[in-house]
Amino acid sequence: MGKVTVITSGKGGTGKSTVTAGLGAALARRGNRVLIIDCDAGMRGIDLMLGVSGELVFDIADIVGGNCPPASAIYPCKTVPELYILPAPQNVRDEISPFIMKQLVSVLKKYYDHILIDCPAGIGSGTTAAAAAADRAALVANTEPLTLRGCDKVRQLLSDYSIPEIRLIINRFSEKSFKKLNAFPDLDAVIDKAGARLLGIVPEDPVSAGLAQKGLPIEGKSKAVPAFDRIAARLDGIHVPLDL
Ligand SMILES: Nc1ncnc2c1ncn2[C@@H]1O[C@H](COP(=O)(O)OP(=O)(O)OP(=O)(O)O)[C@@H](O)[C@H]1O
Ligand SMILES: [Mg+2]
Repeated sequence: MGKVTVITSGKGGTGKSTVTAGLGAALARRGNRVLIIDCDAGMRGIDLMLGVSGELVFDIADIVGGNCPPASAIYPCKTVPELYILPAPQNVRDEISPFIMKQLVSVLKKYYDHILIDCPAGIGSGTTAAAAAADRAALVANTEPLTLRGCDKVRQLLSDYSIPEIRLIINRFSEKSFKKLNAFPDLDAVIDKAGARLLGIVPEDPVSAGLAQKGLPIEGKSKAVPAFDRIAARLDGIHVPLDL
């Protein structure tokens, strides 16, 4: 039975989709069979980041509406073996309800080692649907106070769904920018503010971000790749010392 991890943040643009794509590829490299579910109805992006947007015919709403069997709406990522994508609907009106999402994911998790659910920004219905289906959550934040406040809001929503494990991924980290911003004395203070244990730190890495924007897998020598590999190992239950 696969483990379902929701990738969320509250505030928009923190890097949820990039982190989901990077972690999906890293988990697959570890030999896992991985499904990424895009929950961002109307603003989907995972299909673009994993290079399958040109092939999309069906999406999650087609499964729920009975227009196709689940396998027809799940697309293999051509460049990363064992990584699959279930796209969000193009229209927000086709968004899946929390009840249906939970039912669908409980069936899909039998066929994968990991399911990652990429949330939309905010704490609206897309995030609620993702939370309803999740076993654990990763909050993606940078080190800005406003983003960390968003984490606090989303943490409250996740606790309403009794998600036992809520962890923090600090994304786009740069020591230089952190010092320049001077909002917190150190990363421990950031983690305290987020109110979640640290799962990992992903550095600011325009190369990885550029790969995702071009639909290419986040792999190779770019700076964020080792960070995604370490987080993926932790998601697999392996003890890897934190990067603090
Ligand atoms: N580690 C990183 N290093 C550099 N740039 C990054 C990194 N992570 C994300 N980005 C960039 O940040 C921007 C937002 O990323 P992304 O779309 O993944 O965020 P998001 O949280 O999914 O946004 P939304 O809330 O709109 O869904 C993009 O331009 C992306 O390339
Ligand atoms: Mg996104």
